[in-house]
Amino acid sequence: MIFKRIAAALQWRIRALLPKKTQRALLRDNAKYYAKRFYQYSGVANKTRETDAAYLTWLGHVVEKGLAMPDMRLGFGGERVRELIGRLDAYLTNHGERDLPYIAGVHILKTYAAVHRERGFALDADVLAAIDALPDADVPSAYDKADYTPGEFFAAKDAAFPELAAARKSVRNYDPTKPIEVERLVRAIEIASSAPSACNRQPARVHIITRREQIDACLALQNGNRGFGHLCDKLLIVCGDLRTIYDAHEFFDLNTNVGMFIMNLSYALYHEEIGHCILNWYAKPEQDKKLRETAGIPEHENVVCMISCGAVPDRFRIAVSPRYEAEHFYVVH
Ligand SMILES: Cc1cc2nc3c(=O)[nH]c(=O)nc-3n(C[C@H](O)[C@H](O)[C@H](O)COP(=O)(O)O)c2cc1C
Repeated sequence: MIFKRIAAALQWRIRALLPKKTQRALLRDNAKYYAKRFYQYSGVANKTRETDAAYLTWLGHVVEKGLAMPDMRLGFGGERVRELIGRLDAYLTNHGERDLPYIAGVHILKTYAAVHRERGFALDADVLAAIDALPDADVPSAYDKADYTPGEFFAAKDAAFPELAAARKSVRNYDPTKPIEVERLVRAIEIASSAPSACNRQPARVHIITRREQIDACLALQNGNRGFGHLCDKLLIVCGDLRTIYDAHEFFDLNTNVGMFIMNLSYALYHEEIGHCILNWYAKPEQDKKLRETAGIPEHENVVCMISCGAVPDRFRIAVSPRYEAEHFYVVH
């Protein structure tokens, strides 16, 4: 008994003398914990109503984006359109709900069919029949307007925040004959700098890419700008400075802080009447290294996203991307 007590006391003393977990070990622990959670609950390895809804939303968005492209190619997206038809059917069968992802998907397909009919393009008969057979849904009012002139689109640039927030939309169509002066982008960055950041460490850094060849080379490494990227006049690469982080616990914080800056920047670009679209940076290491080399991004910065910028054309269409009701976003505890 006495030996046991002595051993326990010694063990405690020895443990106290050991260095605290190294930052490297903390990073490993965090990566393990969060990677496990990600794998357990995301759509990567699970199929739930929520992951099905997210996939349906994504698929509808792909088709809706196609409808908003500057040079919409008639008959585009054949595979995706067929997949969307099938997924809508499966969603209703499996989940029995005509919720927003379902209603939006139906509306997008009906619009797809209507646009092709208007322009006299014969879609495959089975596709057309399947779309026509979809029940008419209560279309969200967000879809009331998808075509804009510049004046209409930027009408809320000085409006009160609720209107401005609702009016900001991604634009995937630019007039390449109208340049965006760097000073206007700098003004938007000035406005965006009011974004909060943890302990006010302000990690966001924006690289303004101005040369055509460099813009094209960067966009060639990004997977979401097909059909419109080539029309943008400037490209922003938004990064986070890793040197502002000094604890392994803050691993995700860089992206949280830069993400908030990006949102502010998006509102500021809208306020400055600059058409723009945030572009993902879901990059594999090789892709990331290539972009750093192409754009001259310092090693201590992590790329968070790109933003294509340009003047909006005289008439253009946007992807409406309707939102859920507020209840979707909150839980009162
Ligand atoms: C992190 C992030 C990555 C995005 N990546 C892309 C992209 O690669 N290509 C694209 O066309 N749109 C992209 N978007 C724009 C979204 O599709 C758009 O914000 C969403 O559909 C909501 O529409 P709205 O911005 O018009 O309100 C991205 C947006 C965010 C926030």
